[in-house]
Amino acid sequence: MSGNSFGSIFRITTAGESHGRANVVIIDGCPAGLPISQAEIQVELDRRRPGQSSITTQRKEADKVEILSGVFEGKTTGSSIALMIANQDQRSADYSEIKDVYRPGHADYTYQAKYGHRDYRGGGRASARETVARVAAGAVARKLIAVAGIRVVAYTVQVGDIKSVTVDPLQTTWHEVDQNPVRCPDQDAAKKMEKLIKEVRKQGDSLGGVCEVAALDVPVGLGEPVFDKLKADLAKAMMSVPAVLAFEYGAGTAVASMRGSECNDPFVVQEGEVSTESNRHGGMLGGISSGMPIRMRVTIKPTSSLPISQRTVDIHGQATEIRTKGRHDPCLLPRFVPVAEAMTCLVLADHLLRHRVSRISYLLTNT
Ligand SMILES: Cc1cc2nc3c(=O)[nH]c(=O)nc-3n(C[C@H](O)[C@H](O)[C@H](O)COP(=O)(O)O)c2cc1C
Repeated sequence: MSGNSFGSIFRITTAGESHGRANVVIIDGCPAGLPISQAEIQVELDRRRPGQSSITTQRKEADKVEILSGVFEGKTTGSSIALMIANQDQRSADYSEIKDVYRPGHADYTYQAKYGHRDYRGGGRASARETVARVAAGAVARKLIAVAGIRVVAYTVQVGDIKSVTVDPLQTTWHEVDQNPVRCPDQDAAKKMEKLIKEVRKQGDSLGGVCEVAALDVPVGLGEPVFDKLKADLAKAMMSVPAVLAFEYGAGTAVASMRGSECNDPFVVQEGEVSTESNRHGGMLGGISSGMPIRMRVTIKPTSSLPISQRTVDIHGQATEIRTKGRHDPCLLPRFVPVAEAMTCLVLADHLLRHRVSRISYLLTNT
């Protein structure tokens, strides 16, 4: 199985299944001298942790991270950083019903068809348990991009049909986002979302929604032509997360019905710097950061594993029904938010380092 590594200079490789012993990540390419502690990584993992509120899965995992290598006396050494998060609460018996039967909407069928042998316990490698490794690595990446003054924040903006009023990411902090279990900084909308999630869960069903992710104070110039555009790498980062079905940035799909004159953001000079009056381009032009906030919207599907009966087939091709026992999130948004932040931090850390290389060309041609 390939496809377990991500990034070019700041590069991560992850390993681990839902019900295996642990999830691990190796980070290569992190510069030496970056201060990082176990506690800083743990803060981020605690936001993704299962069982953190009444509307997330009740699987109990402490998600305690161990730094195995690459950090000495509180700073990175420049060698590869290995992080490990042990799995504790694996009830494999919960999953015996999916050994021979495919869950609609999950990866059981495609893994079986592709490999002919799969770790069916909790979905194995296809389980979102692997995102714990992304979040751990993302915490290191966040510290690195903070050196350049970059901040990343994500929050829920839609659950089912309930949408929040427009949230200004420039004014949004973790404190506001984490004030409710839905992670929506519009507190009125959050109450409605939470109520809806509880109602739908009682019916044995689940809900999807939308997460907005913003990267602020990103310097001009991150992103490489042609295939490694910043927008392309961010889209890949988000689309690689389980349950993500759509990615858009800036005005997104709304541009389809705009005129060019409505869509373009006029350039202006503000405090001696080139800027744009509006930000329909979402902080990226030609796949290169423009200095304006990068704003993305990521759409997540409703959780596929449901306790109610669903029609399916078994591995012998016989029609059957499935009711998934196990413990599942009735809505994935609250736990997706920290994963989205981590993936954004990873992409920006990589492009920040890549940009240093491009910067040398700029200096050579302009001095
Ligand atoms: C944070 C997070 C938690 C998830 N938890 C569950 C879950 O409890 N039950 C489930 O069926 N799917 C869950 N998923 C989604 C599945 O992992 C995903 O739907 C599955 O791997 C199939 O991949 P696809 O939806 O990208 O096609 C979760 C996704 C994320 C991002």
